[in-house]
Amino acid sequence: MNEKDFQEILDIGIALSSEHDLSKLLDKILSKAQEVTGADGGSIYLVKKDKMIFKASRNKTLLEKFGPEKMKEIVKTFVIPVTKKSMAGYTVVTGKLLNISDVKNIPSSADYSYDPAFDKKYGYDTVSMLVIPMINRDGEVTGVLQLINSMENGHPVAFKTSHEKIISSFSSQAAISIANAELNEDLKNAHFDTIFRLSEAAECRDKETANHIKRVSHYSRLLSEKLGWSPEACELIFWSSPMHDIGKLGIPDAILQKPGPLTPEERAVMEQHTVIGALVLKDSSIPVIAKSRIVALTHHEKYDGTGYPQKIKGEDIPLEGRIVALADVYDALSSKRVYKPPMPEEKVISILKEGKGTHFDPVLIELLLENMKKIAEIREEFSDKESDYDNFLNIKTIDLKTLLKQER
Ligand SMILES: [Fe+2]
Ligand SMILES: [Fe+2]
Repeated sequence: MNEKDFQEILDIGIALSSEHDLSKLLDKILSKAQEVTGADGGSIYLVKKDKMIFKASRNKTLLEKFGPEKMKEIVKTFVIPVTKKSMAGYTVVTGKLLNISDVKNIPSSADYSYDPAFDKKYGYDTVSMLVIPMINRDGEVTGVLQLINSMENGHPVAFKTSHEKIISSFSSQAAISIANAELNEDLKNAHFDTIFRLSEAAECRDKETANHIKRVSHYSRLLSEKLGWSPEACELIFWSSPMHDIGKLGIPDAILQKPGPLTPEERAVMEQHTVIGALVLKDSSIPVIAKSRIVALTHHEKYDGTGYPQKIKGEDIPLEGRIVALADVYDALSSKRVYKPPMPEEKVISILKEGKGTHFDPVLIELLLENMKKIAEIREEFSDKESDYDNFLNIKTIDLKTLLKQER
């Protein structure tokens, strides 16, 4: 490896170690590997026990041919077993790299073979491949970097020995950065899993299903996307909207679960769930909790100032509160509850339209109505099954053996 290559590896190492988001990191690894080797395409598999998960892919020719939208569909994640039969699997099992000048001429005596199904499906012509194991600090293969068609003057040629060397050093840097990003992701997931479960606990007391908060999260994110918010802001409302009713944990059962209408006094107590929620979530420097506090406090305010608890109106209501208010009411109307069947779509729409500018932000109502197809897809994907009601309401029917079985 010459001085230039060494410098390149150092630069790549620095670039990779600064990226903590797993999918952005994988994309960066691929684009750097393409830069260094002139590869037309590449993909990354991550190894999880006896399986390999196809996690990221780039392909210049296919991107030009199909465009970014279709490309997302083409490179959808999938899982394959780790066996020597596939080239990626071979490198995982043996820890050896493969540098193949022409995939069509792999000898039949080799353990692995090339599967032409992808090429056939998308009209691509894979010629050369460089498949390199990504090895972590403990010497374990944790992933595979697979590069396709090293291009020279617009034609695929074989990968060079110098590519093998530089990509091998590069891939160990990548493995370490991936391990760090995965740890980061695990922490983030644990954090969000806790948020969802806590929110579920609050909704469960009110006989809501877990899917209610999932739908509200998705509707809220969709509305924020349509408002043109940044991906980070959309993600933040996705994770903060589940906690809108967390304050119901502090409302007495006699009121929360009372069949029939509430007295004015009981109603006043019930309305306190907004304030209790904000108190539970107050003084946090964690953005998602800070945002949840605003959502919890303001999701029952109405656009004309007749909501609660502060009776603020219009633009004075934080936008995230206005978004979740609409998502929550839409879901309450359009889904089944223990005490009522779902309302027909036309009826839901006419109620929402009636509330335009009085209950709801008129801009948001328009956005919701313009995106009913996407809304229906979310409703469908997270629809409540009878078993969801059983989980909360018929605890006796749950098989304790299955519930208590340790997952390994
Ligand atoms: Fe609420
Ligand atoms: Fe709700």
